[in-house]
Amino acid sequence: MNAVVEERRRLRGVQRMLRGQPAMDGAGVRLTRVIGTPELDHLDPFLLFDVFESDNPDDYIAGFPPHPHRGFETVTYMLAGHLEHRDSVGNQGVIETGGVQWMTAGRGIIHSEMPKQADGLLRGVQIWVNLPAHLKMSEPAYREYDANQIPEDTMGASSSVRVVAGETATGVTGPVSGVVTQPLFWDLVVGAGAEFTESIPDGHTALLFVVEGEMAVRGQDGESRVPERHLAILAQGDTLALRGAAARNRALLLAAAPIGEPVARSGPFVMNTRAEVIQAFNDYQSGRLARPYTLEKE
Ligand code: CO
Repeated sequence: MNAVVEERRRLRGVQRMLRGQPAMDGAGVRLTRVIGTPELDHLDPFLLFDVFESDNPDDYIAGFPPHPHRGFETVTYMLAGHLEHRDSVGNQGVIETGGVQWMTAGRGIIHSEMPKQADGLLRGVQIWVNLPAHLKMSEPAYREYDANQIPEDTMGASSSVRVVAGETATGVTGPVSGVVTQPLFWDLVVGAGAEFTESIPDGHTALLFVVEGEMAVRGQDGESRVPERHLAILAQGDTLALRGAAARNRALLLAAAPIGEPVARSGPFVMNTRAEVIQAFNDYQSGRLARPYTLEKE
């Protein structure tokens, strides 16, 4: 007896497209802020999406000297160049091209990210992922993976996925695990005209940032083109189906479960209430948030 299995996939088309706006952060690093702006304050659980990209050292050399965070996670993924990281918990390392740092600030951390280069291209993204109330005051945690620790799933002759977090249909699993929002973070390369189809959990918030080329994303009502340096917010559904629309196409795909709690934010602190944010500032100023440190001159 053969049951007719009807495949009912709901395609995650483009719901909204963002270009972001120029911003400056750290000690004067020029970047493009795509989430965390007046246009889009946050998209649960994503609180911030920054893109830094320059081959002019004046734009990045001052870096991000020691500064605090509380209440969420910071994710830094390098597309080109080297950033040296240090924090108040004692972690230290260099994030190089293709490497990722996934830091849980929890109840408090002070960290710095300084360019480990004086010339050449520095390019990467920083994303803030929220934590639910019961984990905002958890112990800080730190994960860092080099490019060679991030597995790649080859899909056909011209397409591949580097899996930072989450799992592909063939079972390739990224090294970042145990994160409460069950994130998926993939670096996709899709050949000219090649198709890419994968499942994304329905109900999770999903973003596609095109690093290079152009992606044609299929939705329930047709196709949308997402050009280079644009961020697409994907509609709900269970399937991402896209096609490489330029000669070379590369994009970052992120998805995570929304938390559904109030967001109170100011600068480097993201809590549930205004009072908790004020407490974070007080704790920082009185040295109770984390142990301060200074960068020694080289
Ligand atoms: Co930071």
